[in-house]
Amino acid sequence: MYNETDFDNIDIAAEPPTEEPDRQFYFMAKCRVWVREFEKKNSRRPCFFTQTFGCQMNARDSEKLTAILEQAGFLQAKTEEADFVIYNTCTVRENANNKVYGHLGLLNAYKKKNPHMKIALCGCMMQEPTAVSKIKQRYSFVDLIFGTHNIYKFAELLAVSLNSDTMVVDIWEDTDRIVEELPAKRKYRFKSGVNIMFGCNNFCSYCIVPYVRGRERSRKPEDIIKEIRFLASDGVKEVMLLGQNVNSYGKNLTDPLTFAELLEKVEQIDGIERIRFMTSHPKDLSDDLIAVMRRSKKICNHLHLPLQSGSSRILSMMNRRYDKEHYLNLAEKVKKAIPDLAITTDIIVGFPGETEEDFLETMDVVKKVRFDSAFTFLYSKRTGTPAASMDGQIPEQIAKERFDRLLKEVQAIAAEQADLLVGKTLPVLAEEINRQDDSLLTGRLSNNSVVHFAGTKEMIGTIQNVYLKEAKGFYYIGSLQ
Ligand code: 5AD
Ligand code: SF4
Repeated sequence: MYNETDFDNIDIAAEPPTEEPDRQFYFMAKCRVWVREFEKKNSRRPCFFTQTFGCQMNARDSEKLTAILEQAGFLQAKTEEADFVIYNTCTVRENANNKVYGHLGLLNAYKKKNPHMKIALCGCMMQEPTAVSKIKQRYSFVDLIFGTHNIYKFAELLAVSLNSDTMVVDIWEDTDRIVEELPAKRKYRFKSGVNIMFGCNNFCSYCIVPYVRGRERSRKPEDIIKEIRFLASDGVKEVMLLGQNVNSYGKNLTDPLTFAELLEKVEQIDGIERIRFMTSHPKDLSDDLIAVMRRSKKICNHLHLPLQSGSSRILSMMNRRYDKEHYLNLAEKVKKAIPDLAITTDIIVGFPGETEEDFLETMDVVKKVRFDSAFTFLYSKRTGTPAASMDGQIPEQIAKERFDRLLKEVQAIAAEQADLLVGKTLPVLAEEINRQDDSLLTGRLSNNSVVHFAGTKEMIGTIQNVYLKEAKGFYYIGSLQ
């Protein structure tokens, strides 16, 4: 096991092991030797910087990249002016790709100043052949490129890249492997993401995720439970179970287990006080899950349930496999079962063929469900997805105008929803010192809303009862009780 590994006793003159994760431990030991030599030559340790784009799954992956770099002996830098910079990329919308290209221009300037600097790119965007060939041509100063399927091989790729003068590229088309037991450096000591599954089989017609993250694979429940027990023993109080479609967890296991059953197992782990999960797909949300959420003392009062569109016609073109009525009924059912539940969502505006009537159907669902918060997106054409070649692509101006109307409605409703809790005293997990005012702490309610309140840094990582004095749209101002 990683925690018990003594890296300095690994014989790196021997052939690398073929088994995982031992093979990666061997390469971590190799990287340590490289770091020691760097230190001898330059009288300082090399430093690294990781930048994460995209979703919670990428954030969790970056915690693993960080742990490997630290284990190798690198020091964490505060800016991109570092010896090793790695971007964990996203490609769900075009602007995610554009951000990476923008940053690469900046990195090139840093690299000219620092001859030691190495630049690595990984994550979803690297699974797109067009992006990789563009990087090879126009950004040839990048040193290492790898994708989502072989991220567990980071230590090995790092060792190869540190000892190479040319660009190292290793992209796999798919994998059925899940490598356990690799280290992770948590951003917060008291909360952690936990992958329960990888990939997605849904093929929503606008979405690139199934192409870049591969087919759905569930981790074995015993591995998940083991990881969460370890996290609890290491001070973690809140876990976020992560997957593109957690409601279909367990279907492909040798001994199938439902997501609801998995949650019941997680509930029993001592030390874990809060359980979150994302993302749920409305087509698969079972009555069993609702019953488990209702019974649970630890599952948070929050359900992220992407709507995408309120028009049944558009939902069918999106291949979402539910219609407006199903979504409305489901939202009503969960709200009735769990009265304090916050429902949040994702909505796409300007999907090909979306008419004003379709858009008004979306607005209608927004008004009926009254989301506590919603992420709204302009449809972004992703090459290779079915929607990219559909007729009726919506002019940007029309999409933007609908987007603005939607955002206004979503924000007005979210503010009214937030007002409902003003005057109540509720448990808040204190997470960090407020970034603007260091006399304040910032924490979260069970329903995921942010609360700022006066407190001391010793409270970070503890659950405190906080009186909610005022709602300010996105957050509350509270005071300790
Ligand atoms: N354009 C716009 N938004 C998208 N999403 C996924 N693919 C696209 C796309 N092509 C949004 C969906 C999803 C969220 C993570 O990103 O709303 O739920
Ligand atoms: Fe993309 Fe749909 Fe899978 Fe979510 S469920 S990752 S939107 S294909």
